[in-house]
Amino acid sequence: MFKVNDNYLKLPGSYLFSTIGKKVAAFSEANPDKTIIRLGIGDVTQPLAPAIIESLHGAVEEMAVAETFHGYAPDLGYEFLRKAMADNDYKARGCDIAADEVFISDGAKCDSGNIQEIFSLDNKIAVCDPVYPVYVDTNVMAGRTGIYDAVSETWSDVIYMPCTAETNFAPELPEETPDIIYLCFPNNPTGSAITKDELQKWVDYANKVGAVIIYDAAYEAYISEENVPHTIYECEGARTCAIELRSFSKNAGFTGVRLGATVIPKDLKQGDVTLHSLWARRHGTKYNGAPYIIQRAGEAVYSEAGKAQLKDQVAYYMNNAKTIYEGLKSAGYTVSGGVNAPYIWLKTPDKMTSWEFFDYLLEQANVVGTPGSGFGPSGEGYFRLTAFGSYENTVAAIDRIKAL
Ligand SMILES: Cc1ncc(COP(=O)(O)O)c(C=O)c1O
Repeated sequence: MFKVNDNYLKLPGSYLFSTIGKKVAAFSEANPDKTIIRLGIGDVTQPLAPAIIESLHGAVEEMAVAETFHGYAPDLGYEFLRKAMADNDYKARGCDIAADEVFISDGAKCDSGNIQEIFSLDNKIAVCDPVYPVYVDTNVMAGRTGIYDAVSETWSDVIYMPCTAETNFAPELPEETPDIIYLCFPNNPTGSAITKDELQKWVDYANKVGAVIIYDAAYEAYISEENVPHTIYECEGARTCAIELRSFSKNAGFTGVRLGATVIPKDLKQGDVTLHSLWARRHGTKYNGAPYIIQRAGEAVYSEAGKAQLKDQVAYYMNNAKTIYEGLKSAGYTVSGGVNAPYIWLKTPDKMTSWEFFDYLLEQANVVGTPGSGFGPSGEGYFRLTAFGSYENTVAAIDRIKAL
């Protein structure tokens, strides 16, 4: 008789965005005349840049000819893309990362969920609160998080690092020592960023206590301030304590195309065992590589034309972020984020809970956002809006919210 992995049964409720989807669908069905504006899920809306489309077309043509056809991709990624990333994302910033320390994948969500597999079950994880839910839920599925307390909405074996207005939406070093620390900056959901000096403190701490940092840099392209690091490897000592997750979703609009990477320096070891070798083994066994066509599209992100076009695309979304930030502020809301990230984090008015505000906004303004409490208990009383809509929809949504 088969038995299910009952760790899955411990997961509370459904995935945040499924709940939102169901609520929006029900509202839409009951109110077919209303036009809903979606600033909830962090999905991009602008088309792929011309340089990327051109590269995609070229790669498709190659697949039509026996001499240039490509079958299985190397499971760790094509050299041309690994090198483009090592050169542009790291060497150009003075960071010592080699092409063979970059593992190409089909996105940061899978990697952020799968990476925990190479660690023993008795590692203790520390996460920011609020947090991108994938880090916690995948550790729940693995059986690493202990018992769930429905009242506090926390797991007994997880260290939570509150990121509140008092801490400037950044975590403080935890009192209890973790083994694995998940950090994401610029942050989803709060839109906050930390300076290089602040990140250096985490690197020093991890090296001191023997912890590993899993650093999610999915929103790196949105950094606008000088002293905010674009990669954790800008910090001294990060090669011995940090894994970095990269995504092509938000810097290049690949949410539906799918491409990402995980960087594991060879200096990151437990005794003689490198995490690099374990991840290579995992990738080789369980993954057959991101498609050739898509990796060629990823390469175009680093071409001169690609860089210029994507700079404009990021600027387009950041103009939306400014529109949301300033619009809400002028309407009396307490807002943060939106300067180094495409997310605006606002305090719900009149002491409404996050879900109360979600319903209010959906019903009264027909605008969809994301309840902060869905990202963790410290998100209660907060709400996330994304800058990934079209400019027209963003302006319309803010006008509607201002008119409430
Ligand atoms: C923090 C964070 N990491 C990873 C991802 C997923 O990225 P990808 O589309 O590359 O899977 C997201 C997507 O919203 C995210 O917010």
